[in-house]
Amino acid sequence: MLVKYKIDLKPLVLINKLFFASKKTGTSSNIWLERQRKDPYVKRAVKETYRARSAFKLIEINDKYKFIKPGDTVIDIGACPGSWSQVAIQLTNSDNKDSSKPKGKVISVDREFINPIEGADVLSYADITEKQTQIKIENLLNGKKANSVISDMAPNSTGQSTFDHDAIIELQEKALEIAKEFLELKGHFVCKIWFGDRTNDLTKKLLKNFEFVKLIKPPASRNDSAEIFIFCSNFKS
Ligand SMILES: C[S@@+](CC[C@H](N)C(=O)[O-])C[C@H]1O[C@@H](n2cnc3c(N)ncnc32)[C@H](O)[C@@H]1O
Repeated sequence: MLVKYKIDLKPLVLINKLFFASKKTGTSSNIWLERQRKDPYVKRAVKETYRARSAFKLIEINDKYKFIKPGDTVIDIGACPGSWSQVAIQLTNSDNKDSSKPKGKVISVDREFINPIEGADVLSYADITEKQTQIKIENLLNGKKANSVISDMAPNSTGQSTFDHDAIIELQEKALEIAKEFLELKGHFVCKIWFGDRTNDLTKKLLKNFEFVKLIKPPASRNDSAEIFIFCSNFKS
């Protein structure tokens, strides 16, 4: 397979280098580094040139629900470093790599800088909570609606689970507003949360807008992580 995203493999290569360096010095970060080194998803990400192992979470969610198709328009919120966008590009054919299939569109949004990705319209330094970002998305859509809004957004973790849970729920409520604004009828929405007290409230809210709402923990999501994804389909209004 062609190595298309060389520049973005650096962090993954660095993980391996750091591991061997820390082995020599015996630092306590070995545990995390060793887990990364042994992680089959990290190995696959390097091999398949994804910018992060999280690519496989979206691949697994899509394998289950088959909601992203060639020709689709996808808005990826919280896209940095870009692995979900890479998957969305492959599934929608937004880079037109396969001329026998319709060409889709992927809009990648993050408040951080995203290295350019062939096949995506990238909005870097774009905070989704700001009106300016919504206007930029609207301009890129150029009157069209999106088939899917996917949000792997996460706030900076404080380590305090209740506080972090509240923060991620609030971010995903913002992503839901974007979905309500830009999704076509029958469209799909995927978001990530860290499980907690407000999970049920968010699920109930989602059920007002989507016919089908399901919590999903894809195999690529680590068992010791509180993260869980919510897949929603058949957008009503
Ligand atoms: C877990 S990372 C996403 C990884 C990405 N899905 C991938 O596969 O490469 C979460 C991202 O959410 C972004 N984020 C957090 N709050 C945001 C906001 N208000 N607006 C836009 N992006 C935000 C962070 O900057 C971070 O890059």
